[in-house]
Amino acid sequence: MLNLFLLFITFSLSKQCNEYNQGYEIDTVDSAFECIESIETTEEENNDIITGLKYYLEAYVFKDILKNPPQPSFSNNYYEKVDIDEQLNKINTKTTSMYDFYSQIKNLIISTRDSHLAFNVDKDLNKPNSELVYFYYFLPFKIYIDNNKKMYLIPRNEVLDIPIDVPEEIVNNEKVAVKTINGEDPFNIIREFGKKYMGLKCPHAQFTLAKDYLVKGYLGFTPLSKEYLNTPISITWENGESLTINYKIIKFNRSNQKFQQALERSKRRGIRDRLKIEDFEETNKTRTKENENNEYQPNCSPENKICCLTTSNKVNTFIVNTFDVKNENEQTEFTAKLFECVNSFDSNNYPIQVIFPKNNGGLVVPLAQLVEKIISPYDDVDFIGSVRISDFTEDIMKVDYSTIMYNPETCEVREKENNPKILGEWYTKPNIIKYGGVEHKVSQPSTLNLPPLMKFIINDLYSSYNPRKPTEVVVYTDSFCYSACSWVTKGLKEWGGAIIVGFDGDPNGKDDEFEVGLSPSSNIQTVSKYDDKNPFTQYGYKFGLTVIETYRYNYEYNESIPREFLTDMIDERVNIYQFDQTEKVIKEFEEETKKIIEKYQTKCNPKNKRLVKRDEKCDKEINIEHGHGGYECGDNGEWSTKCVLAYCDDGYKFDYINNKCIEDVCVNPPTESESDNGTPNMTVNLVMIIIGIITLIL
Ligand SMILES: *[C@@H]1O[C@H](CO)[C@@H](O)[C@H](O)[C@H]1NC(C)=O
Ligand SMILES: *[C@@H]1O[C@H](CO)[C@@H](O)[C@H](O)[C@H]1NC(C)=O
Ligand SMILES: *[C@@H]1O[C@H](CO)[C@@H](O)[C@H](O)[C@H]1NC(C)=O
Ligand SMILES: *[C@@H]1O[C@H](CO)[C@@H](O)[C@H](O)[C@H]1NC(C)=O
Repeated sequence: MLNLFLLFITFSLSKQCNEYNQGYEIDTVDSAFECIESIETTEEENNDIITGLKYYLEAYVFKDILKNPPQPSFSNNYYEKVDIDEQLNKINTKTTSMYDFYSQIKNLIISTRDSHLAFNVDKDLNKPNSELVYFYYFLPFKIYIDNNKKMYLIPRNEVLDIPIDVPEEIVNNEKVAVKTINGEDPFNIIREFGKKYMGLKCPHAQFTLAKDYLVKGYLGFTPLSKEYLNTPISITWENGESLTINYKIIKFNRSNQKFQQALERSKRRGIRDRLKIEDFEETNKTRTKENENNEYQPNCSPENKICCLTTSNKVNTFIVNTFDVKNENEQTEFTAKLFECVNSFDSNNYPIQVIFPKNNGGLVVPLAQLVEKIISPYDDVDFIGSVRISDFTEDIMKVDYSTIMYNPETCEVREKENNPKILGEWYTKPNIIKYGGVEHKVSQPSTLNLPPLMKFIINDLYSSYNPRKPTEVVVYTDSFCYSACSWVTKGLKEWGGAIIVGFDGDPNGKDDEFEVGLSPSSNIQTVSKYDDKNPFTQYGYKFGLTVIETYRYNYEYNESIPREFLTDMIDERVNIYQFDQTEKVIKEFEEETKKIIEKYQTKCNPKNKRLVKRDEKCDKEINIEHGHGGYECGDNGEWSTKCVLAYCDDGYKFDYINNKCIEDVCVNPPTESESDNGTPNMTVNLVMIIIGIITLIL
């Protein structure tokens, strides 16, 4: 009786969502949650979604390995164990709160530490759940970490051009380092937030993103719990001043102009900007302040997906913000810019620094491949991968994937465009991989080849190109180098194509747990492309998942552990904790690059035997056909006199396991069917299915 009575009171007092009738409203957490919690779902809807997840997740390529993941040498619980079906069964479908149900699914996805798994509200479907999209949480500051690993809180006067109140303690202590947050090391709050809400495997990558998401974000993308949002945050500065502060929430009106404009801008500028919300919030301010005496900004601004510049410092800078292209025009633009960069690097002999700032991926075939080829021309970028056998996988393969997958032994495309209805033996005679007692049934490994036309263009480019030695190229990653980006950095690491350096990340985290990138796998962004009668579309959601796992380069094609579960660590680390496309920051990177290249004249990373010091003398000593050499790094961290095979002539693949150069079957195909299959229709190859981006709701 008492319970009923309480329920009745809560109901009658609760704020209905339609009481928000301003353009926007800044609200307390409790009040906002009265609206959020009134967004309803039904048991039937919940059950349909769980049933749908179970069905489509049969195509999820990491479903098996997650049950018993192999661990890296440095930890026995780096990869968390998740039994997806078991966890789905545990979800409470009796709840009528959409936010509750949604959060449970989000938490399950976070536990897989695979952000390619994306279950989100799809606002464009205009179902009742889309109400959630208009809630934005924030704290009135940004977190800045300086090069001495001190934290500062920078006042944020506005959110999406909406003025917000900033407590005067924040304003007054802008230039004072933070001593503690909640009585602890101030970085702990970022670490814990990262662990709890960022679906990423490496703690440094979690930290890189959590630093942004801790202070602002959309509840539709990061459904923080009411309890979390209600927990006061107490800050103490080094001068003894302190402040206790709470999260606030902005509720936007659907028709709010500012909100719609921000939405349009972020749509135009690509998904990356949605991960870096401050980009569009503070565009005006930063731009005008930083643009003064910044001569190269027009050619190399954060608006560009990629750009390059060369300063008086005698270092070439190549920035890759994203691989995300929306259409063929954008892809052509990307490629054209890439070739412009090659030309500019060719006009001098300076070293090259490549920066991947919070790069969230995009198109692998051919953009990530081209970028890797430009950084390190002899790398094999014909990725090797497999798909998990399931009914839904078959649908996906029939629609598009199989026409860009090749038989590695013959270089024949797996399925031609005209007969995709029955899949060949590569799919119908699967391999079984075992992770302890867990079976993983996958298609025979196939390669995702650099399209022949691109190969041709690249070769043409190289006939005049002056590629740098790997010890003259420094590649910077903040560990959140996601998807397509990690295909590049992990490739470079495996081939020894560059010195890989970490920036950003957790200032006090371990350097030898700093991964060069995460999730070198391929996903579909929405199941609705392959099956329009899915429950997600019906109820206003969008669901995407990982389809292809990729393997290390083993030309016997018998690897069993996907690269998603194999770590590749950085060679060096620098104390730069935020990237900004400004002259000041680029100069900081340049100074670090010069130091590192100087160091690598004599020293090296003893844990990295693949990065060698290329040298003509060693090259002459190598008497392996088509092979070239370099000196290996000694265990003492200095270059040894051991001359090893390091790369092979163009048209040959470097078989590291067997220490030889083998013919690339795609250059000299064994059959005469080259005109048929060897040169597939470009438009097919350009189908943008290897998109690996975190799909956000907006
Ligand atoms: C806010 O939304 C209501 C309907 O929910 C609408 O009538 C009103 O015009 C909107 N106000 C603004 C400022 O957009
Ligand atoms: C941006 O700055 C320009 C010039 O300083 C100003 O005219 C414009 O109103 C500003 N825009 C916004 C959205 O603040
Ligand atoms: C792959 O095959 C080769 C040759 O058959 C064999 O020597 C090697 O042990 C196999 N590797 C794995 C990881 O199974
Ligand atoms: C390539 O495929 C597209 C669409 O399937 C077609 O329009 C075009 O004619 C093809 N080009 C060649 C050279 O076959």
